[in-house]
Amino acid sequence: MKRLLSFAALGLCLAAPAFADLALATSKNCMSCHAVDRKVLGPAFKDVAAKYKGNAGAADMLAAKIIKGGSGVWGPVPMPANTQVSEADAKKLAAWVLMTR
Ligand code: HEC
Repeated sequence: MKRLLSFAALGLCLAAPAFADLALATSKNCMSCHAVDRKVLGPAFKDVAAKYKGNAGAADMLAAKIIKGGSGVWGPVPMPANTQVSEADAKKLAAWVLMTR
């Protein structure tokens, strides 16, 4: 039964990478300040995706900003550095944010 469940979970992750990256974002605490479809403390991820649509350098720029934090793009509230996020995870998260709609 346990085995069956983990197979089902694996299938879900393979079928839905967006779901897996939401889980990553949740585990890295991003979702305490962000939501996909509405502004919380930080901008809605779908608004970020719309802003950088067609901008080829956006993924790298956002990955760096996710780690270092930054301010002045969306309003007066800065994003603190997220030093618990590795460079590889930051790239995954940036790519996922840019895919949200
Ligand atoms: C303490 C609250 C907080 C946390 C935690 C947080 N953010 Fe943010 N985030 C913000 C705020 C506020 C802004 C707007 C900063 C600005 O205006 O430049 C922002 C901006 C962003 C942007 C847009 C940057 C830009 O230049 O357009 C992205 C992408 C982002 N956050 C992703 C993440 C990810 C991924 C995580 C998790 C690793 C995360 N954030 C964690 C508050 C937070």
